[in-house]
Amino acid sequence: METKGRRASVALMDEIGQLYGQVGETRLREMVAAFYQKVRVDDLIGPLYPDQDWEGAEKRLADFIVYRFGGPQTYLEERGHPRLRGRHMPFAIGEAERDRWMKLMTEAMSEVEVPEEQVEVIRPFFAQVADMMRNR
Ligand code: HEM
Repeated sequence: METKGRRASVALMDEIGQLYGQVGETRLREMVAAFYQKVRVDDLIGPLYPDQDWEGAEKRLADFIVYRFGGPQTYLEERGHPRLRGRHMPFAIGEAERDRWMKLMTEAMSEVEVPEEQVEVIRPFFAQVADMMRNR
């Protein structure tokens, strides 16, 4: 028998694959650009990012989101399997860093006006992934 939680997460997975079509690539990339504008100057998580490669970091996250939300698979072609937990191991991520990432991304979504209906799908997905990245 399926638990309620599992049913909810399967439904969420289906919805995530539709986001690319609903929000569109332009707005998704604008969201990531707005997010990195904030990360760059953030006192807590800004220093974790490679200072010489902000453009590269922005492209990697945007390509990942485009692919994960049902768009072109450029991320997979260029970076292979995401292995996100492993790739975040070099960075000390605890609750405070997780919460700051979510705060800045929530602000970015609102700034570029991602429609509320889609924000309701995107937020829990990001929150789940961000929580998985905790390694401290
Ligand atoms: C929990 C707080 C988080 C922190 C502090 C954090 C920090 C970082 C840092 C410092 C990098 C290296 C930047 C680079 O690519 O050069 C990175 C890469 C990346 N992050 Fe995060 N991250 C967090 C959460 C997330 C979440 C929630 C997602 C996805 C929804 C995500 C997706 C990615 C991706 C796709 C990359 C590039 C991986 C690669 O191909 O190398 N991160 N992150």
